[in-house]
Amino acid sequence: KGCKLVGCGSAVPSLQVSNDDLAKIVETSDEWISVRTGIRNRRVLSGKESLTNLAAEAASRALEMAEVDPDDVDLVLLCTSTPEDLFGGAPQIPKALGCKNNPLAYDITAACSGFVLGLVSASCYIRGGGFRNVLVVGADSLSRFTDWTDRGTCILFGDAAGAVLLQACDIEEDGLFSFDLHSDGGGQRHLNAGIKRNDIDDVLGSNGSVLGFPPKQSSYSCIHMNGKEVFRFAVRVVPQTIESSLQKAGLNMSSIDWLLLHQANQRILDAVATRLEVPSERVISNLANYGNTSAASIPLALDEAVRSGKVKSGHTIVAAGFGAGLTWGSVILRW
Ligand code: ACO
Repeated sequence: KGCKLVGCGSAVPSLQVSNDDLAKIVETSDEWISVRTGIRNRRVLSGKESLTNLAAEAASRALEMAEVDPDDVDLVLLCTSTPEDLFGGAPQIPKALGCKNNPLAYDITAACSGFVLGLVSASCYIRGGGFRNVLVVGADSLSRFTDWTDRGTCILFGDAAGAVLLQACDIEEDGLFSFDLHSDGGGQRHLNAGIKRNDIDDVLGSNGSVLGFPPKQSSYSCIHMNGKEVFRFAVRVVPQTIESSLQKAGLNMSSIDWLLLHQANQRILDAVATRLEVPSERVISNLANYGNTSAASIPLALDEAVRSGKVKSGHTIVAAGFGAGLTWGSVILRW
């Protein structure tokens, strides 16, 4: 069985936070941020807005482009590390779309690699049979887990949602050529948002005595990142995973129209493009406007590139995600 991309969509919060705005709360400058990262602006969810709504809006736009009815969606994969419910946010998307067929919906947590993993998972469901229309939604609100006093991280992230619809087709029309996925738990110390737990042994002693009551609520720590290590990791593994996907598909970089990387930092995009000898005109980049939007960054950039006419029907794209876990991977697609 084949599978192909038939629609995309995205949505961003209305609140814009510029580098100059950040310079009012931490010691930084527009010049420092734009030179080191390429980021000038980001969108941030306000307290009243919901990530679920943003995700549903992006998904609805993808369905509209594909001219597919919400009732014909049979799986929704929500790629996110920041769901609004610890038990998972995905079922809220078909609910918001008004799907009357109760499609399977669940979350995939793999930070900035989430969308690539979701896309590959969707293709496996379709190729395995039984699934025809799969919505893959990347949505994150890292701003809610950002330490706004840490100038090393708060300048990087933005909130957004992006979605694609992957549809079953004949194998001759197949639009997902190959993929390559990895993880390395050993690198978790470089990038994480740990959980502060309310363990039972903080509440009850081994002799049955009550130690602390009421117990503290569990919560997440803010994002901790060693920027230099993450930078080095990305520049090392992304060219490797792309070479591996190209090899599996029997292609080389010169036959690919677009390099679409997770939008983490312009210097990472430039370094990877240089290693792969891809000219900057074939690199998709929109991080100046949105910053690093984690699992949303690839579908958001794809959606903008498709709607602006840059990515045209039949173009080939190599997409690569990398981030916390550590996780990374790539996929070769045809639009
Ligand atoms: N403004 C001004 N100065 C700053 C800022 C800031 N916003 N942030 C750090 N500095 C200072 C530091 O304090 C340091 O000062 P010092 O020399 O007096 O000690 C100096 O600038 C250099 O700091 P570094 O951290 O070494 O700066 P670096 O050149 O590594 O750039 C950056 C930092 C931009 C974070 C870079 O390391 C990077 O982009 N790394 C990749 C991060 C990334 O992409 N993360 C996302 C991963 S995806 C995911 O899964 C979430």
